[in-house]
This record gives sequence, structure tokens and C-alpha cells, in this order.
Amino acid sequence: MIAIQINSFDGYKSLLFNEYFPKPFPKPDQVLVEVYAAALNPVDKSIAQGYLKDMIHLPATLGGDFSGVITEVGSSVSDFKVGDKVYGQAIILNGGSGTFAQFVAANAANIAVQPDKISFAEAASLPLAGASALQAIEGHIQLMQGQKILIHGGAGGIGSLAVQIAKVHGAFVAATAAAKDKDYVKNLGADLVIDYQSEKFEDMLKDYDAVFDTFSGDTTNKSLKVLKKGGIIVSMLGAVDKALADKFQVTAIGQMTNTLTKKLHRLTDLVNSGKVKPQVDKVFPIGKTIDAFNHLSTGHPRGKVVIKIKD
Ligand SMILES: NC(=O)c1ccc[n+]([C@@H]2O[C@H](COP(=O)([O-])OP(=O)(O)OC[C@H]3O[C@@H](n4cnc5c(N)ncnc54)[C@H](OP(=O)(O)O)[C@@H]3O)[C@@H](O)[C@H]2O)c1
Repeated sequence: MIAIQINSFDGYKSLLFNEYFPKPFPKPDQVLVEVYAAALNPVDKSIAQGYLKDMIHLPATLGGDFSGVITEVGSSVSDFKVGDKVYGQAIILNGGSGTFAQFVAANAANIAVQPDKISFAEAASLPLAGASALQAIEGHIQLMQGQKILIHGGAGGIGSLAVQIAKVHGAFVAATAAAKDKDYVKNLGADLVIDYQSEKFEDMLKDYDAVFDTFSGDTTNKSLKVLKKGGIIVSMLGAVDKALADKFQVTAIGQMTNTLTKKLHRLTDLVNSGKVKPQVDKVFPIGKTIDAFNHLSTGHPRGKVVIKIKD
């Protein structure tokens, strides 16, 4: 089968297009899926650069998010059957075989039947970003009607879903984004969009209940100032300065996302009910995966970058 692989940790520009890689074998708790589409995430780029390299055997197939059709079911899997259209996560770091390939072995615990009436490309765009947004907003923050939340990176993969999910909860949503993306993020439902290049969110907002930071850098610590006492900040990147958070009397969480079936079911419901719409910026053919990574790195995509593997 075709697989997009790394055989060194020199970065995504050294990706290999391997036409003769053997199909993976599903373990008892896995399914084998014929992949129709796969989405890029920043972590795929990091893996190609050596992130957690001690856990990776080369050559390794990149990719975590996918959608496709089940062709084999492991002996201990009872919730799925051959022919099911599924989506989920099967990154090599969680025991999957990597999704930038024609077939993937995926843990049954990290997949679900994909939403109806959306394309495979749209379904592939959802798992990690959607699970991250849900874990933060419905898990850690437990956002409620009438509360105020600031979402950093409102036009990004996670942010574009987080803005929509926060509106489902009836919150007032402020989001940061580039000037060119202001209208885009407003159309996702944000009540206020702040240009992260020319405006200072920390001087514009106060008494917020929650911050969801998908960008990090110095935005995390600056964000503590906009929270009211007892508020909460969730950061997608590493630990927040707990001592500083204590000083502001707010809860600070550095999130590690898990893409479990339960979260994917919730995403399926939100998409099927029309409350959340997948955000696909651009779809590339599998032979142009390096171009897809270039676009993720420098194209400032709105939402997700997707690779089409089968029509
Ligand atoms: N911990 C975990 O388990 C986990 C899981 C998933 C993702 N992550 C991490 O979470 C982060 C977000 O992921 P993603 O897929 O949403 O990435 P993404 O699609 O690249 O989104 C990041 C967004 O941040 C925006 N941004 C850039 N500079 C900013 C600033 N100064 N202030 C506010 N926003 C700014 C970007 O806008 P422009 O396009 O204008 O630059 C972009 O829209 C990544 O670093 C990823 O590695 C962590």
C-alpha cells in the first residue's frame, strides 16, 4: 500500500512516498480501516522533527486524524463491523499505525461512526481538534449559559470548532485571530474578535470566566489578567505557570487531549444536529503531502488542512 513516511527526523520536507509498505495487521482491540481522508495536525510536523523520537521505530507512517471504511475487525472488538464509515485518531504514538496511508490499524477505543451527510474530508478534519475543544470546554471548563470565554486562535483547527462549541453553551465568546480572519471567526459565532497583531486583548477584556488558549507563548500568562477570581484557563501547550495562576486566584490547566470514542460520539451529535460545522481550509492529494505541510506551516489556514487518499 502507499504510505507517507519518515525515515529520519529531518522534518516534513524529507517525507517519503512509499508505494510498497505492507498493510498493517489490526491487534485484537483494533480495526483495519481503508482510509479515505486524513487531516494534518501540528504534532505530525513535530514528530517529523524528532518529537518523542525514542518512542518511534523508523520508517514510521505519519498522521493521526482519519476517516474511512472498516475492512477488518479485531477479535475483541464488538462495537464496530466491516463496512462501518468511521473517523478517529490512529497516530503511532497511541498505538495506531499512522493515517497518511491507504490502510490504518486503529484502536477501537479511539474511533466512532462518522457524522451523516458530511464528506470524508470533513469527517477527517474533526477528531483531534474537536476532541481538544470538547475536553476543554465541556470537560475542564464546564462552560455555562451567560458565561464569558476568551478563545485564543479562533481561526485555527481547534479554535474554529471551540468558538462554535462555546456558542452551543450560550456563552459570550471573544476570540483572537489575525485581522484577515475577523469576519471568518465572527461568522463562526464569536461575539467579539480581537486582532492579535494590532490589539491588546489583555487591556480590552476583564472579569472573564474562562480562557481557552490554543496558541500559548506569552498569551497564556497575559490571559490570567482577563479572568475573574475563581476563573479557569486551559492551555493546549504545556504547563501554565501555577504560581502566577495562584496569585490571580484562578485554576490553570495544561491539557493533554485524549480522543476517546465518547468524545467522538458527542462530536457526531453536534455535527448531525447542525450546531457545529467542520472547517476544512484546503484538501491536497496524497502525493502532495509536503505541499499540505507547507500550507499548514505558512498558509495561515482557516480550520484544517486535509489529505485525500481515496475518492
Ligand atoms: N496538548 C495536546 O494534547 C494537544 C492536542 C492538539 C493540539 N495541540 C496543540 O495546540 C495548538 C493548536 O492546535 P491547532 O491544530 O488548532 O493549530 P493551528 O490550526 O495552527 O491554530 C493555531 C492558531 O493560532 C493562531 N495564532 C497565531 N499567533 C497567535 C497569537 N499571537 N495570538 C492568538 N492566536 C494566534 C494562528 O493564526 P494564524 O493562522 O494567523 O497564524 C492559528 O489560527 C498547537 O500548538 C498544537 O500542537 C496540543
